[in-house]
Amino acid sequence: MLESLRGRDVISILDFTRGELEGLFEAADSAWKLIEYRPLRGRLVALAFFEPSTRTRMSFESAVKRLGGDTLVVTGEEAISVAKGENLADTIRMLDAYSDAIVIRHRFEGAALYAAEIAEAPVINGGDGRQHHPTQAMIDLYTITKLFGGVDGLTIGVLGDLRYGRAASSFLLGLTLFKPKMVYLISPPQLRPREEVLEELSVRGLRFKEAGLMEVLAELDVLYVTRIQRERFPDPSEYERVRGSYRVTLDMLEGRAKKGLKVLHPLPKVDEIDPRVDESPFQAYFIQARLGVPLRMALLAGVLGGDGVWS
Ligand code: NCD
Repeated sequence: MLESLRGRDVISILDFTRGELEGLFEAADSAWKLIEYRPLRGRLVALAFFEPSTRTRMSFESAVKRLGGDTLVVTGEEAISVAKGENLADTIRMLDAYSDAIVIRHRFEGAALYAAEIAEAPVINGGDGRQHHPTQAMIDLYTITKLFGGVDGLTIGVLGDLRYGRAASSFLLGLTLFKPKMVYLISPPQLRPREEVLEELSVRGLRFKEAGLMEVLAELDVLYVTRIQRERFPDPSEYERVRGSYRVTLDMLEGRAKKGLKVLHPLPKVDEIDPRVDESPFQAYFIQARLGVPLRMALLAGVLGGDGVWS
């Protein structure tokens, strides 16, 4: 089912076809069965998280270990001097020598691609700067597929920091592989998507419009919320101007939204969602986080698994 994934680098969600993603989602549905077969037995996956991360790192760690593999974990920039390109290259060579696959998160855009060019082992991008976060986009699309039976025909709002958020951009790029009815981009003016992302969405034929939340809330099937990426603002005063500029409350949802609306969020959330939403039927972000493990298990088994993993 996932033969085409074997040995592949995972840099951008657009490295995949719709068919491959659908195969992956199907595999994720039965990922728990893999525990018994331990397809990663004897394999080591390096988790090189040069940028802070708890959930993504733990979710990968959980996936690798449940498949019978083990992890080599490097965290924080202090472990190496990544400010110098050459040192990153040497670190990658070392990880390549010690492990069978490398998951990398880095604050520099293009770091994962750079690592993939150096390493012989497959490289999985766990987030590079504001650019790509392909496994998060896979989880988002998988969650929607589980909740609605598919992505086609849905009306989806993407709210928040569309400028600096790599999860939001990757999700939007991933949506271009499907046929949603309409995608609304909802952000404060300073946090509109970057031109190159908007252009890619147009070229790929996604039906999208920029809009205000209250204008479109009643139409939405999915509301994908993201936090403001404070750490990526070049100027702290720019952050001060937009902080707290949007918040999804339970009253808002109960007053305007469809009963079946589902709220997604890549997490961590800060103050952009009223905690009362957590206990409501609109909440789907904890389901989404939970689905991260089987999705990453399916992906790792596809990339690293030997023959017959899926037969
Ligand atoms: C996202 C990230 O790191 O890009 N988090 C995640 O991987 N779950 C989103 C974020 O940090 O806001």
